[in-house]
Amino acid sequence: MDALKAIRHRRSVRSYTAAPVDEEDLDQILRLALLAPTGSNAQAWSLVVVRDAERRRALADIVIRGGGGYFAQVRPPAEGATPEEHAKWGADYAEEVLGSYRDVPVWVVGLVVPRNLFPESAREMERLSDVQSLAFAMENLFVAARAKGLGTVPTVFHWFEDAAFRALMGIPDDVYSPVITPVGHPTAFPEGLPPRLAATRRPWRTLVHDEAWGNPRQEG
Ligand SMILES: Cc1cc2nc3c(=O)[nH]c(=O)nc-3n(C[C@H](O)[C@H](O)[C@H](O)COP(=O)(O)O)c2cc1C
Repeated sequence: MDALKAIRHRRSVRSYTAAPVDEEDLDQILRLALLAPTGSNAQAWSLVVVRDAERRRALADIVIRGGGGYFAQVRPPAEGATPEEHAKWGADYAEEVLGSYRDVPVWVVGLVVPRNLFPESAREMERLSDVQSLAFAMENLFVAARAKGLGTVPTVFHWFEDAAFRALMGIPDDVYSPVITPVGHPTAFPEGLPPRLAATRRPWRTLVHDEAWGNPRQEG
């Protein structure tokens, strides 16, 4: 599959089989990820590949627990539900939609590893550059994985379980993880977005402006 097709057909995959990922394919998508542009050529990033069965299961547990916390935070409670009932709803829903993460054969943990090349007064700017660079690398990985028939999904649910996540991954205090992803064979590749999400997508021309802000891209 060529790059244009892989970009078009990449979708967030949240349901995986336990089929193994070929070691050569994995190496290739990791190397393609690290060909992304990197601010100041700093390579202020690392990717941790989790394949060990016990560790990836523990990571999946953290992600599912974090997902439960996220869903409970962003979705309104059912009428009359107590906070405990709503939290339980979040946990059950996460289990339902993310449960197959426990079988996924590989996780890739994206890390920002600050190099602190900018002067102290510009460190915030440097962090933004680092996060952008990691995001470009992860998108390379997502597209390359899609080209190889592998599913991924940018995931931040571990943010909600930061202490457990850091302990499991052995991450030093100055290093942090803006995004992680499972890598595996989807039960099926989603075609298009679910209707609930597709309905909220804005027409692309309204998101592109000609020449300056406020001139939505015209046809022709
Ligand atoms: C910064 C960022 C964070 C995201 N975090 C999560 C996440 O924690 N869990 C998840 O299931 N999807 C996550 N997503 C995936 C989005 O929900 C998804 O990209 C969006 O719904 C569009 O669907 P698509 O990726 O299939 O085009 C994230 C995407 C981005 C860009």
